[in-house]
Amino acid sequence: MAEDLINNKDIYFPSYLGTNDKLISLLNRASQTLCEWFSKADKNGPLPFDESFKCIMPAEDGNSEEELFCEIESLLNNSFNPVHPGSLAHLDPPPLIFSILGDLIAAGLNNNLLAYELSPSVTLLEESLCKWFAKKIGFNDFSGGIAASGGTLSNLNALIAARNNAGLGSNPNSVLLVSEDAHSSFIKCIRVMGLDSTNLVRIKTDNKGRMDINYLKKSLEKCSFENKKIFAIVATLGTTVRGAIDPIKEISEICKQRKIWLHIDGSIGGIFAITSIPIEGLNNINQANSITINPQKIIGVTKTSSLLLVSNISTLENSFNTGLPYISSNKKIINRGEIGIQGSRPAEVIKLWLGLRFLGLKGIENVLKSSIKRKDFFIKNISKNKFDIYSGPLHIVSFLPKKLEPKDSDAWTQTKVNELINNNFMLSRPKFKGKYFLRVVMGNYNTKESHIKELLRLLDP
Ligand SMILES: Cc1ncc(COP(=O)(O)O)c(C=O)c1O
Repeated sequence: MAEDLINNKDIYFPSYLGTNDKLISLLNRASQTLCEWFSKADKNGPLPFDESFKCIMPAEDGNSEEELFCEIESLLNNSFNPVHPGSLAHLDPPPLIFSILGDLIAAGLNNNLLAYELSPSVTLLEESLCKWFAKKIGFNDFSGGIAASGGTLSNLNALIAARNNAGLGSNPNSVLLVSEDAHSSFIKCIRVMGLDSTNLVRIKTDNKGRMDINYLKKSLEKCSFENKKIFAIVATLGTTVRGAIDPIKEISEICKQRKIWLHIDGSIGGIFAITSIPIEGLNNINQANSITINPQKIIGVTKTSSLLLVSNISTLENSFNTGLPYISSNKKIINRGEIGIQGSRPAEVIKLWLGLRFLGLKGIENVLKSSIKRKDFFIKNISKNKFDIYSGPLHIVSFLPKKLEPKDSDAWTQTKVNELINNNFMLSRPKFKGKYFLRVVMGNYNTKESHIKELLRLLDP
């Protein structure tokens, strides 16, 4: 009967019969194309985008394999290349080999993390991996977590759970406390939660970019005086511009005393907590109610692979459960679409799981330590007489020539970014405390000392 309905000439989907020769040859060709692109990185630079790049839309007839591979190549050749040793602008390191495989398997599997019946093995895998992480950071047996497409969504999941837990669902007086250097995703979260900028209290940071505890205490008093209800305090474990770590121990004590939810945004630095690498200020994180860990940002698990871990999984169930009326439920296993904001979700956890299994704990440490070593090498060799340097215990450095007026920082950084890209180095220029800075993120495993020396030579004004 199937033969009556389809034209055998058209092969659109994998077959349940035979060996899928067509698909195998396409996958081989795709792998070949991708690997050639990796190896061309050195020739093309980190950002070889050509503005004449054309986005061709689907036509009446489907395109041929040849045409499509031509377009895939053009897409690759006009893309940011994280494998290039000069790709040092953002938290987007080269992809781990086994994570690339994980993405391929997840795409072919096409399972849906919405529900156990749509992804039985992967549901268990995600649950187990979250528990593994949770145990590693010192949470107890009630803990668990949920994957999400990026740190922003993991933070949002946490804040919704925190507000719900505080019984402040639709209270317009509810407020969130974050440091002034916390990530901009909190502004988005607040808006999505139906609140506005008055519900986001920003606490000053000290000269190392950490939340200032005295200001935090003053803000708590002010909130109480103004009858504002705090649903969470966020401690950032690795700020975006300089990699600072808020004083987690002190903040957690304040949260305990006042029964306030502590969320740690460990999008950048959280992964260090599962290793024995000594990082100043990384302690007591198991005192938090929730923590975002985003291995895509530093160890190269492919995007996206963010996790929200919570000390008590029932807080997520209570916040997001709807009963999913069209899905079967199994009393013992939670449908993953019921403990987070996302519904249908790909089996992204496979690339996280494979990436971590491939590295092992030693490999994870190795990758993380290498990024700290590159940062240390950069800081040791950059001229302290010429630059003001803003960094912390992690692998991020922002800097600016000494005595540069804030109004001149825009033009200086723009000129430098252009000069550097012409010399195959890509740095970013974050706006921070009213000025533009140059920022280097040392998470690229392919960057060697010789590259850093060359970068420093180009930077010397
Ligand atoms: C500290 C911090 N938190 C959250 C985020 C948001 O993560 P994502 O872009 O994966 O949503 C970032 C992004 O760089 C970040 O640096």
